[in-house]
Parts: sequence; structure tokens; C-alpha cells
Amino acid sequence: MALAVTTRSHLSVLRALVALAAVVLYFSGAVADARVLLTLDDFGAVGDGIANDTQAFVNAWTAACGSEQQAVLAVPAAKAYRIWPVQLAGPCKKKLKLLIAGTIVAPASPDEWAGRDPMKWLYIYGVDGLSVSGGGTIDGAGQEWWARSCKRKKTQPCNTRSPPRAVHFEECRGVSVQGVTLQNGQQFHLSFTRCRDVKANFLRVVAPADSPNTDGIHLNDTSHVQIMDNLISTGDDCVSMVGNCSDIRVRDISCGPGHGISIGSLGKNRTTDRIQNVRVDTCLLTNTTNGVRIKSWQGGMGFAHDLRFESVVMKNVSNPIIIDQYYCDQPTPCANQTEAVEVRKVEFVDVRGTSATAQAIKIACSDAVPCRELELRNVNLTLEGGGAASASCYKAFGKAAGTVVPGSCLARHDS
Ligand SMILES: *[C@@H]1O[C@H](CO)[C@@H](O)[C@H](O)[C@H]1NC(C)=O
Ligand SMILES: *[C@@H]1O[C@H](CO)[C@@H](O)[C@H](O)[C@H]1NC(C)=O
Ligand SMILES: *[C@@H]1O[C@H](CO)[C@@H](O)[C@H](O)[C@H]1NC(C)=O
Ligand SMILES: *[C@@H]1O[C@H](CO)[C@@H](O)[C@H](O)[C@H]1NC(C)=O
Ligand SMILES: *[C@@H]1O[C@H](CO)[C@@H](O)[C@H](O)[C@H]1NC(C)=O
Ligand SMILES: *[C@@H]1O[C@H](CO)[C@@H](O)[C@H](O)[C@H]1NC(C)=O
Ligand SMILES: *[C@@H]1O[C@H](CO)[C@@H](O)[C@H](O)[C@H]1NC(C)=O
Ligand SMILES: *[C@@H]1O[C@H](CO)[C@@H](O)[C@H](O)[C@H]1NC(C)=O
Repeated sequence: MALAVTTRSHLSVLRALVALAAVVLYFSGAVADARVLLTLDDFGAVGDGIANDTQAFVNAWTAACGSEQQAVLAVPAAKAYRIWPVQLAGPCKKKLKLLIAGTIVAPASPDEWAGRDPMKWLYIYGVDGLSVSGGGTIDGAGQEWWARSCKRKKTQPCNTRSPPRAVHFEECRGVSVQGVTLQNGQQFHLSFTRCRDVKANFLRVVAPADSPNTDGIHLNDTSHVQIMDNLISTGDDCVSMVGNCSDIRVRDISCGPGHGISIGSLGKNRTTDRIQNVRVDTCLLTNTTNGVRIKSWQGGMGFAHDLRFESVVMKNVSNPIIIDQYYCDQPTPCANQTEAVEVRKVEFVDVRGTSATAQAIKIACSDAVPCRELELRNVNLTLEGGGAASASCYKAFGKAAGTVVPGSCLARHDS
């Protein structure tokens, strides 16, 4: 007994010492981690929304990225910096923070892209450990791009080529974009290609409902991603992912108007795409053309596995639950092909609300590669304005659990 008490008091002394050491380390660490603050204005930027601040921005990036100390590069508040297309390359010497309090705005005319890569505006390549935050705004000023798009302008000449992605990361690691507004993107607002360990949280992403291809957050060949606490209201998908993506968490999102949350389109031009381990939960979708969607082109290969959509509320959504292995977004009909991206192990749990169209659940899978292990659990979708909605399935196998309204159309076995 006495021995036990002694041991215990020794232990608590030891714990106190460890805690003290941690405090000392913390404060000395804070001194050792001194950081340097640079602002765009230090590099001669004007910030009146008219002057060309591109070179100042590039110089500031070069200085911050090459800094021996952790740098915070600030875009000062209450100013607007007009920035022509730039390529910002990493890796940087230390972690870097881009603190955007003011506004970064693109040139309005697509003609400014003459002789440049038309797909890029703010293009950030090869960074490791970059965070973007600060409460400010990144404005793609995309109006003229949308007006010239063939998706909107039905007479020639119209623009068939893809406009720039507003903020595009490629080959990156450990990037977070948090607490800023992205608006009026020329095309996708925030996109990541071949990145890993990404956070896109506390964002406001806004563009008109009729702006073409203005996806909110787009992932391509990217893994370990957290997309949380965002308001996304654009003319295309709120969140979309293509290529090979895995370990994606999408949570607490308000989406709409727009096209909803989309896996795909996968398998375009017979590519092999692999999507796995995606969790989408606690999302409110309002006035969107789709709710949660998986779409793939005929002739594609690969798979979409282990997907879970949970606690989703739909308000006046045109296709609340949709899986489409016959996706075809081109003027001429798509040729029928036997290969398809395999859809397996997809759960829809606690999905409720209203459908803007009669068919609330639409699952169209391929003859050769049917959808398997689907599950509908506690789903209640009714017509906007009252009345019952319907469900349709083709080559779709799985089970229903709990209450499922409209009644499940999944087939049990595919033998
Ligand atoms: C603005 O500056 C950038 C970088 O110097 C340059 O590439 C671009 O052509 C300039 N734009 C105009 C309209 O002068
Ligand atoms: C995804 O990225 C690959 C290159 O990694 C590219 O070939 C492909 O076109 C991209 N897909 C989309 C939809 O952007
Ligand atoms: C996805 O991964 C598969 C298998 O590793 C590969 O064949 C395919 O090219 C990848 N797709 C892309 C778009 O990188
Ligand atoms: C996809 O295929 C079509 C013709 O089938 C071709 O015109 C187009 O360039 C291809 N796209 C890509 C990204 O390879
Ligand atoms: C949905 O669309 C209707 C009709 O355009 C509009 O009145 C309503 O405000 C929209 N709801 C939201 C939340 O945007
Ligand atoms: C529902 O959405 C449709 C368009 O899809 C729109 O016309 C209608 O006004 C919306 N209704 C409400 C109540 O928001
Ligand atoms: C593909 O098959 C469907 C159903 O058999 C048929 O209605 C459609 O015309 C075919 N499409 C083409 C382009 O051959
Ligand atoms: C489904 O939702 C409707 C509309 O909110 C509600 O009236 C109905 O009771 C619900 N049905 C079930 C089985 O929960």
C-alpha cells in the first residue's frame, strides 16, 4: 500500500516536470520559429484595381518562398491587386503562408491570355507546406469568358476551349486554403491535380447559376483531402473529383445553386480512373440540378469504390440521388461500348428532402459492368410542393434498409 502511494507521488512529480519542460520548449520554440512578414506593397504593388501588380506579386512570392525564415506574405486589406496569369513555383525553403486580406483580381478580357496558357490564371506548382487564408477575396472576373463560351453563346464565334482555372495547384503536398472568398472564376474556382494532404475549409465560393463550368472545388489525381465548412454557390459542381482520388472527406457544405456533389465524370476517352474511400456527410443542397452523383462515360475503365453519402438534406434538387454510367456531355451521341468504370460499395444513408423532378432516385448502370453492393438506408425524398417521387434502377444491385421513400428499386442478386 505505502509503496503504491510513493510510486504515485513520484509519478505526479514526474508529470509536473514533463509539463514544465513542454512549456519551456514551447516558448523557446516560438522564439526559434521567428517569422518574417512581407507585403505586396513592399514590392511596389499599387493595389488600386487598375495598375498591373503582377511583377510585384511574382517578386514578393520569390522573396517569401526563398526566405530562410518562415514567411507570411500579406495581400493588404481594402486594396485590389490586378494580377495577370502567373506561375508560382515551389518547393519553398520553409513553410509559407499567403495571407489574403484584400482582393486579387484577374484581368477581365480573355484577350489578355493571347500567347499564354489559356488554362491558367493563378497556377501554383510543386509547393509543400503552403497555407492560404486571411478573409480576403480572389476574383476571377470571369464574366467575359462566360459570355464567349459556346455553352452559353450559341452563335459563332464562340469559345470551345477551356478557360483558365482560377486557382490551380499541381504536384503539391500539405496545402490548405481556408477562410477566403473565391468568386466569378473563369472556370473551376479551386482545383488540385496530383496533390496530397489538402485542406479546403471555411471557404465562400460564389458565381452566378448560369456561369459555365465554374465548379467550386475540383480534384484530379489527388488524395487525403478535407473539404469542410464551405458555402459553394456556382454554375457547376460544388465539389467534383476525377482521375485517381482516394481518402476524401467532404463535410458540412452548403451547396446551391449549382450541379451538386459529383464523383466524375470518370472514364472519359476510355481512361482508367480509380476513386475510393470518399465520405460525404452533412451537406445541404438547395436548387441544384443534382444532389449526390456518380457519372462515368461508356468505355471507361477503373472503379469508384467505397463511397458513402450520409446526412444529406436536399431542397428542390432535380436529381437528388443519381448514378449514371451512360454520361455523355458532347453534341453528338456517344457510341455504345461495353467497358465501364465499375461502381461498387456505395451507401446513401439518411438522405432526405425534396426533388424538383418526379424521379428522385435514378440509377442507370452498365449491362456489362452493373453496379453492385449499393445501399439505401433511411432515405426519404418527396416531391417539392408535395406528392410522391419515384425511383428507377437499371442493372443496379444492393439492398435497402430502414425506411426508403420512394421504395427502393435495387435488385437483390444479379445471378
Ligand atoms: C502585366 O505584367 C505582367 C508581368 O510583368 C506582364 O506579363 C503582362 O503582360 C502585363 N500586362 C499588361 C497589360 O501590360
Ligand atoms: C486530370 O489530370 C490529367 C493529368 O494528370 C489530365 O490528363 C486530365 O485531362 C485531367 N482531367 C481533368 C478532367 O482535368
Ligand atoms: C490511375 O491509376 C491507374 C492504375 O495505377 C493508371 O493506369 C491510370 O493511368 C491512372 N489515371 C490517371 C488519370 O492518372
Ligand atoms: C477525346 O477523344 C476525342 C475523339 O474521340 C478527341 O477529339 C479528344 O481530343 C480526346 N480528348 C482528350 C483529352 O484526349
Ligand atoms: C431556389 O430557387 C427559387 C426559384 O428561383 C428561389 O426563389 C429561391 O430563393 C431559391 N432558394 C435558395 C436557397 O437559393
Ligand atoms: C425549384 O427549382 C426549379 C428549377 O429547377 C425552379 O423553377 C423552381 O422555382 C424551384 N422552386 C422552389 C420552390 O424553389
Ligand atoms: C446505344 O444503345 C441504345 C440501347 O440499345 C440505343 O437506343 C442507342 O441508339 C445506341 N446508341 C448508339 C450511338 O448506337
Ligand atoms: C418523409 O418526409 C415527408 C416530408 O417531410 C414526411 O411527411 C413523411 O412523414 C416522411 N416519411 C417518413 C417515412 O419518414
